[in-house]
Amino acid sequence: MKARKAATKKRAKSQSLASDPKGKLGILTPGMGAVATTFIAGVMAVNKGLANPIGSLTQMGRVRIGKRTTKKNKPLIQEVVPLQDLKKVVFGGWDIFKDNMYEAAVHANVLEPELLKKLKTPLSKIKPMKAVFDKNYVKKLDGTHVKKGKTKMDLAKAVMADIKKFQKDNKCDRIVMVWCGSTEIYIEESAVHQSIDAFEKGLKGNSKLIAPSMIYAYAAIKMGIPYANGAPNLSCDIPALVQLAKDTSTPIAGKDFKTGQTLMKTILAPGFKARALGVEGWFSTNILGNRDGEVLDDPDNFKTKEVSKLGVLEQILEPEIYPELYKDFYHKVRINYYPPRGDNKEGWDNIDIKGWLDYPMQIKVDFLCRDSILAAPIVLDLAIFLDLAKRAGMGGIQEWLGFYLKSPQAPKGRHPIHDIFKQLVKLENTLRYIGGHDLIDHLGQDYDEQ
Ligand SMILES: NC(=O)c1ccc[n+]([C@@H]2O[C@H](COP(=O)([O-])OP(=O)(O)OC[C@H]3O[C@@H](n4cnc5c(N)ncnc54)[C@H](O)[C@@H]3O)[C@@H](O)[C@H]2O)c1
Repeated sequence: MKARKAATKKRAKSQSLASDPKGKLGILTPGMGAVATTFIAGVMAVNKGLANPIGSLTQMGRVRIGKRTTKKNKPLIQEVVPLQDLKKVVFGGWDIFKDNMYEAAVHANVLEPELLKKLKTPLSKIKPMKAVFDKNYVKKLDGTHVKKGKTKMDLAKAVMADIKKFQKDNKCDRIVMVWCGSTEIYIEESAVHQSIDAFEKGLKGNSKLIAPSMIYAYAAIKMGIPYANGAPNLSCDIPALVQLAKDTSTPIAGKDFKTGQTLMKTILAPGFKARALGVEGWFSTNILGNRDGEVLDDPDNFKTKEVSKLGVLEQILEPEIYPELYKDFYHKVRINYYPPRGDNKEGWDNIDIKGWLDYPMQIKVDFLCRDSILAAPIVLDLAIFLDLAKRAGMGGIQEWLGFYLKSPQAPKGRHPIHDIFKQLVKLENTLRYIGGHDLIDHLGQDYDEQ
């Protein structure tokens, strides 16, 4: 931190750590289903002036710079740090289905047909590349648009070749990759994940513990391409790929987009804790009927999601240091595949809390949300911020992007931060740091002024 403060001081005030973005940025998504198409069509709609990029901090968010005075000092984030212009973004990716992005968006049934019709020409031009896929990792899906290779290393090389071709064909200056593919089965971190050497041997030896999402992540990170993981499977959250990210100065972030019920949890739970209110139980259940819901209907794939969702409350409430308030609180998460709802999930939370003299109370949350509408701006912000981090020379895990993630990747030996308000402070201060502005820590000589 001291080194960072010194580095900020050394730079002239307001001089950004990141170079200006030049040319086009390519955003590649392994997985081009509901989330990816809602994201891509959404950016196109915004660029045509048809809709607003609501939910995206890179497009609409502001950050305070300097002291809390009455003068307006809350510029847009894009005025504080040099972000890629949305008009100079191009899209591509991989899927096990051949559908172009118009067909895939129609199938996903998230956006209104009238809106999609207006975007039909540019959407139809985007066709998925052949995927690295193995049914053993996503049991409910079958696809034919799949690469063949003798070894997993061959497949990684094929992904690298795809990326190079895409970059050349689309004349992109830089590329970022965001995993929007299905949730893979639960895999525990093992010996093959511990070092780059072991991992590369595993790729050559077709280790079963290397899932397709790890192959894409390896290909990207090896090429110095920033990588974010929007699903709960391990992907880049293994020591081998964290080390590779450091070695190649590649920013990475994961896991699992923070939308819906987990977003609500990380907003509400910090409030209960802040007011020393106890929690006896938190029961979350939801119904959703999209392809993601179908994939999660398989117990092995659900297990990955469950682990990702369950960690949140434990870390925020810290029962081990607040036993009177949270010891033995009961936390249950259910996901029910219910086709009639499609992408329009309904999530119910029953929260049993306790107050003064242990008196019990209940809170019910009924969130009629839209899964991909909540996820799309996260894909955009992760891509735009990862590109910023790359230009700022920030390789390795980008903990400040944990704000967007359900199960934020943290360095070994450190627990992740789940509280959304703490995550926001971290994100804002990182932006101030990159932008060459003083960090706001609410302390120090200027205490009265903060
Ligand atoms: N929508 C949300 O709110 C939300 C929130 C958090 C996480 N996620 C995660 O984001 C991911 C995408 O969600 P979605 O709703 O778009 O699901 P989706 O099923 O609509 O899309 C996923 C796509 O990935 C493709 N795919 C699967 N394995 C692949 C592979 N190895 N290579 C290339 N393509 C592959 C599938 O064919 C499918 O088209 C899921 O893992 C989901 O759990 C979604």
